[in-house]
Parts: sequence; C-alpha cells; structure tokens
Amino acid sequence: MSKTYKIAVLPGDGIGPEIIDQGIKVLNAVSKRFGVNFEFTKALIGGAAIDVEGVPLPDSTLELAKNSDAVFMGSIGDWKYDKLDPAIRPECGLLKIRKELNLFANLRPVVVYDELAASSTLKEDVVKGVDIMMVRELTSGLYFGEPKGIELRNGEKVGFNTMIYKESEIERIVRLAFDIAMKRRKKLCSVDKANVLDVSRLWREVVERVAKDYPEVELSHIYVDNAAMQLVRNPKQYDVMVMENMFGDILSDEASMLTGSLGMLASASLTDKGPALYEPSHGSAPDIKGQDKANPIATIMSAAMMLKYSFNLDKEANAMEEAIKQVLKEGYRTADIMSEGASLVGTNKMGDLVSEKIVCNILN
Ligand code: IPM
Ligand code: MG
Repeated sequence: MSKTYKIAVLPGDGIGPEIIDQGIKVLNAVSKRFGVNFEFTKALIGGAAIDVEGVPLPDSTLELAKNSDAVFMGSIGDWKYDKLDPAIRPECGLLKIRKELNLFANLRPVVVYDELAASSTLKEDVVKGVDIMMVRELTSGLYFGEPKGIELRNGEKVGFNTMIYKESEIERIVRLAFDIAMKRRKKLCSVDKANVLDVSRLWREVVERVAKDYPEVELSHIYVDNAAMQLVRNPKQYDVMVMENMFGDILSDEASMLTGSLGMLASASLTDKGPALYEPSHGSAPDIKGQDKANPIATIMSAAMMLKYSFNLDKEANAMEEAIKQVLKEGYRTADIMSEGASLVGTNKMGDLVSEKIVCNILN
C-alpha cells in the first residue's frame, strides 16, 4: 500500500474555487496514472471564511493546514471586503497562514514556454528562453515590520510601516537562494536598495558573508529600480533572484508578464519544518469569477511544485509539466494567453485537457 499524501485544500475567493478544482482534477489524473494517493480536505480562508466564521483564517483551517503534508491554495480577496476593518480583510488570512506556518521562502518560477513566447507583450526574442527563479522572502520585511499603523500626529493623520530584517532572517533566505542556484545555472542576483535603505545595507552585508560558502556561484547585486528595468530590457541575464518581501511582490508580478500572463506564474512557499503551501502567484480576479474564463495553469503548475518539493514525486511532477506543454503545443489557450489561430478554451476544459494527457499514457 503506497503512502497517502494529506493535502489541505483552501480554495478561497473569486476564481480560487474553479482553478483549485482543475488542480485537484489533474492530481486525480496523476493518481490514476501513477498509483499515488492523495487525500484532499477542504477548508475556508479569506473572504469565504469571513462570510461563514467572521475571520479570514479560522483556527480550524490553521489546524488542518498544520496537520497536513502540504497546503494547496487558490486565491483570496474580493472588492466586497475592501471596506472591512484592515485587521480582518481576506489578505490577513493569507499573511497569517504564511506567518503561522513559517513559510519564509516563496519560490516563483518565471519560465517562458516557447509556445507562449509570442503571447507576451514584450518582443519574442527578448522573452524566448527566459527561465528565472524568483526567491521572495515571505514572513518579514515591510509586510510584517513593527511599528506600523495610521495615527494622529500634530493634527493630521500619518501612516507608517517598517522594513525590518534580522540577520538570521536574511541569512536563511539567502542560503536557500544560493542552494537553488547551485542546482541551476549557478548565478544569483540579490535585489536591494542599498543606496538608500539601511536595511538593504545589512541585507547586502549578509549576502556577501553567505557567498563565501558558495564560491562556485556567480553573485551580483542590483538596486530594485534597476532590476525592474532590467527585467523588461534583458530578462535572460537572470538565473536566480533573491529579494525582500515587498520587492518580491512587485517584481514577480512584473516578471509574470514575460511569460505571457500572470495566469502562468506558479508559486511554492517553503519552510524548514512542517507543511509548505502552494498557490498561484496571481490574485482572485473577482471580475471573471464563475465565468469559466480563468487560466488554471499557474494553479496546476503550483500543484506540480507540491509534488516536487513536498513529496519528492519528481516523475509525476514532470508528467504534469509535460502535459501542460503538450496542451499548449496543440494550440489550446485560455483567454488571457489567446493568440490568433489558437483554440480558445475555458477553465474547466483546460483542466480536462491536461488531465487527459496525463492519463492517456502518451507520456512515459
Ligand atoms: C501575492 C499577493 C499577496 C501578497 C496579497 C494577496 C496579500 O499579491 O502573493 O503576491 O501581497 O503577498
Ligand atoms: Mg502579489
């Protein structure tokens, strides 16, 4: 009897439930094809949890996540919650689960499939062949720093946040980025704003120190503004990039457009102990919710990352990626990556096509 992997499934809001359904469908196809067992247990997060329980991350959801082998998440947020107290907005549920599970390393692979190179808003020769691993610090920095708030000072309101890092927090994410670079093309670019920010000067100091343990890795430093520019000028110069939480939030959205669509960007949020979390990098897109228009590929690729990073099921993960490539090669596209002459399909059909490819045994 082979092991059963326990997966906590948190569909969330907007397009979350429909894209998660495709992820589960494809994982079931993997089960059928390779005989591995997955046990899915659903729970609420984000607005869906606020509606039922009044909080964006119920204790029961956190408990389930902690007792699972991995967490598979859709997306959170909807305009209808924009006016809520900031302490119970849907986003807080996501930030809290990242913190509670100590998911300090967010991996966002920016891979441009040949089939989609023409779908990018950038020139094909600029994006073709791009393969960047963005490593975003996820549990500290500007997102979590104290003090923060909005208060009255001298008769007017002031708003403030703090970008703060402990050496140990920088070191663990940077080390992980170096380890990843060692398994790839051995190039690491650290993004900071050391010409202005003290926290970045410390960041750079720690990067330099850790680099001594990785003499084979070619290290570079870049200011975040320049990185934003270089990513659209010549993205192929990058292998692995590592950065602070907020910088990573911004640059990963930018980099996603190299791939043709934010709907192509998967992500894995890892920790050194306990379950990791897998979610697409995009948001909940409430404007197309329930219309069978969303691109499920980022979610399916996030599920493939789960197989690879949490379960060591490399063969199965590769089969998922291969199936996606084949479906794209055959010309099937969701609306966001549609191009002339291609066949437009909905969310559900895209999930079916990828699943069929896996089960059909076309792959080895
Ligand atoms: C992301 C998202 C989240 C973030 C939001 C939804 C809180 O934009 O995962 O990039 O800012 O981290
Ligand atoms: Mg973001």
